Amino acid sequence: MTGIETNVDDKVAIVTGGSRGIGKAVAAALAASGARVMITSRKADVCEAAAAEIGHGCRWRAANVSDADAAAGVVNDTMSELGSIDILVNNAATNPYAGPVIEADIPRWDKTFQVNLTSPLQWAQLVWNASMKENGGAIVNVASVGGFVTSRYIGSYNISKSALLHLTRQLAAELSPQVRVNAVAPGLVKTDFAKFLWEGEKEAAAAEHYPLRRIGEVDDIAKAVHYLASDAAGWITGQTIVLDGGGLIRFGEEI
Ligand SMILES: NC(=O)c1ccc[n+]([C@@H]2O[C@H](COP(=O)([O-])OP(=O)(O)OC[C@H]3O[C@@H](n4cnc5c(N)ncnc54)[C@H](OP(=O)(O)O)[C@@H]3O)[C@@H](O)[C@H]2O)c1
Repeated sequence: MTGIETNVDDKVAIVTGGSRGIGKAVAAALAASGARVMITSRKADVCEAAAAEIGHGCRWRAANVSDADAAAGVVNDTMSELGSIDILVNNAATNPYAGPVIEADIPRWDKTFQVNLTSPLQWAQLVWNASMKENGGAIVNVASVGGFVTSRYIGSYNISKSALLHLTRQLAAELSPQVRVNAVAPGLVKTDFAKFLWEGEKEAAAAEHYPLRRIGEVDDIAKAVHYLASDAAGWITGQTIVLDGGGLIRFGEEI
């Protein structure tokens, strides 16, 4: 037995929402570890710049994750240019509504579920049919600790992430033994997505919430996604790694 071997040499990986934040860090970790990576997001210029920064031949396509035709185009292009798809990281997500679920604006609720739940399924279907059914692979869904808790403000988002955690288990059962399907559930991570929670003076207060006394960095999440995507996690499927500095296990309030 040697150390943990997480290289993903020559594997082909698609990372949705790979132009910024957690997705970009995941793409960079996989590319540095030998994978041939395709990143996607909506903005072509940001994607192109991110791919150049990631290096290692990183490719990019502009695609809205919830546009089925665009998704099929990315999968087709990846197959014709790179020959297989071994890793899919469903990372892109949205949070267009803040407020109580009982007052949720239904079009925004629908959008939340379209982007955060239906799209990961659609991308999984596409890569399964194009490559993984025959050749195997690993899918990692980026969920959230919000999938385990209630919230005054982001209940709709949390419900979509909770459903994504169960979609992870369901697909893991259905796609075994060829494909492993796992998830990560981050707490607060320093990205644009959650800026309103950590910008400026709020960061110190947010860090206090976590037993490990800091908020997450994108690399905290990328390392776990990289591990789950690699053969080092070869006997893990249907599971979720919580990456939250201990936020979920902090002492409850005294009553
Ligand atoms: N940051 C946190 O505290 C935190 C905590 C828990 C879970 N998460 C999860 O982590 C994942 C990544 O979030 P992040 O914090 O890294 O966010 P981020 O920094 O805002 O990056 C989001 C990425 O997704 C892309 N994207 C957004 N909507 C898209 C769409 N409809 N189609 C295609 N691409 C889209 C963005 O590019 P474009 O805008 O150019 O499309 C960008 O590349 C999400 O699933 C999020 O729910 C984040």
